[in-house]
Amino acid sequence: MARIAHLSDIHFGANDPRIVDAATAWLEERRPDLVIISGDFTQRARVAQFRQAAAWLGRLHAAGLRTLVVPGNHDVPLYDVVRRFMAPLRRYKRYISNALCPFYEDDEVAILGLNTARSLTIKDGRINHDQMDILRRRFATVAPDKTRILVTHHPLFAMPIGKGGELSEAVGRHEDAVQAACQAGVHLALAGHFHRTYAQAAQKMVAHSGGALVIQAGTATSTRLRNDEPQSFNWLHVRRHDEMELQVIVWDGAGFRRASHVDYAHDGQGWTARDVIDPPRVGAEPRRAGAARV
Ligand SMILES: [Fe+2]
Ligand SMILES: [Fe+2]
Repeated sequence: MARIAHLSDIHFGANDPRIVDAATAWLEERRPDLVIISGDFTQRARVAQFRQAAAWLGRLHAAGLRTLVVPGNHDVPLYDVVRRFMAPLRRYKRYISNALCPFYEDDEVAILGLNTARSLTIKDGRINHDQMDILRRRFATVAPDKTRILVTHHPLFAMPIGKGGELSEAVGRHEDAVQAACQAGVHLALAGHFHRTYAQAAQKMVAHSGGALVIQAGTATSTRLRNDEPQSFNWLHVRRHDEMELQVIVWDGAGFRRASHVDYAHDGQGWTARDVIDPPRVGAEPRRAGAARV
């Protein structure tokens, strides 16, 4: 079983150090096989913010934790126009990682990260056709019994972002990107950006999208919240390519605690939520709900 922590939108420069410390302590104690961080390490791509982010990554690495990271739109300078267009990811590469298509593989999972942050789009993301080729080629040689996971900052899909269910813009070249993910046999598509936790079968979001489960992480540590959703991160247990468990770990003002827990099974076509366990209450057994198609 692969144990994966998925954090996003750390936002050094606009985050709460107490929450950073609590998330770090959680990771050091639980020791996942991999920590995925899907972008927005900084608030404004300033050197001081990148130095803080690099120190935090160094702390995770010093604890023996392995990471796979991609940049977010906040890791591209916004107001420094020369740097924004001439060298948008220079600081990210210097302080965080040189690899813009990071890849991780072990006996159970294969994980590819792609950079969706661009100079031309202030906050929206984009995938280009070279990245789609990398996506197809990288997963083409992966054994079929491994879980294939794609990591981007911007989700490939339009996501519900408001309380009324309003949808965001999808990532640029959305249809081609979804088709490439489908051809690559992606099982899980992990992203962030909207500071909202969400999990939904891709088939429910767009027709002909393949059998992926789309998993959004909220912001792990930023003080900028959407719809008052508290800071959180995701905790995945990938048991096999057709079985996984998703827990959402939420900040409650004093510490991180498990807020929800869903078991998923993949039937070859898509994922089904087969066991939903509500947050445990003090003195009570967790309540189990019936299977639900997601
Ligand atoms: Fe963000
Ligand atoms: Fe973002």
